[in-house]
Amino acid sequence: MAPTLILIGFMGSGKTAVGRQLARQLGWSFADADHVIEQELGTSISEVFATAGEAAFRKQEETVVLGLLDQAAAAADGSVVSLGGGAVTIDAVRERLSGEPLVVLLQTDLETAYARARGGSRPLAADEQAFRQLYDSREQLYRSVAKIMVDVGEKDIKQVAAEVARLIMGRKGKA
Ligand code: S3P
Repeated sequence: MAPTLILIGFMGSGKTAVGRQLARQLGWSFADADHVIEQELGTSISEVFATAGEAAFRKQEETVVLGLLDQAAAAADGSVVSLGGGAVTIDAVRERLSGEPLVVLLQTDLETAYARARGGSRPLAADEQAFRQLYDSREQLYRSVAKIMVDVGEKDIKQVAAEVARLIMGRKGKA
């Protein structure tokens, strides 16, 4: 079975940019779950939160994430899949991730995450206090499903991607 590298982590940890870079580097396909959700719904995530609410977004996210992981498992070549920061709050996603060997957590400190996420269109980054609380409440969830952890720190995208690539060497296929 072709390997699937799954990137998880909080908003602003660089999952999309690092995922794209890793896919390029490894010659694997790349999918970003948030992007697929927006394409399928024909609207932005912030619009979905505003009109249908977070619960409706999570339902769509569950379907898309599980679908992307099924596709990746059936693919002939390797895949990199970046998940939205809240995908780990979905029971079915966590259950699925528990059977995946290459779940990589990109860890970033709260200040860096907020500096990157603030001022954008992310609905859950609008309020600093709520963002902080969410960060604290998520930490344990990320750790519970991660097989590999990478500290993003001050590193740039290429450095993080290189570190992930190095860490997954030799782990492909091991559950
Ligand atoms: C969310 C993170 C976002 C996006 C949505 C909800 C979250 O993805 O899925 O705004 O609950 O943490 P990124 O982590 O890619 O910003």
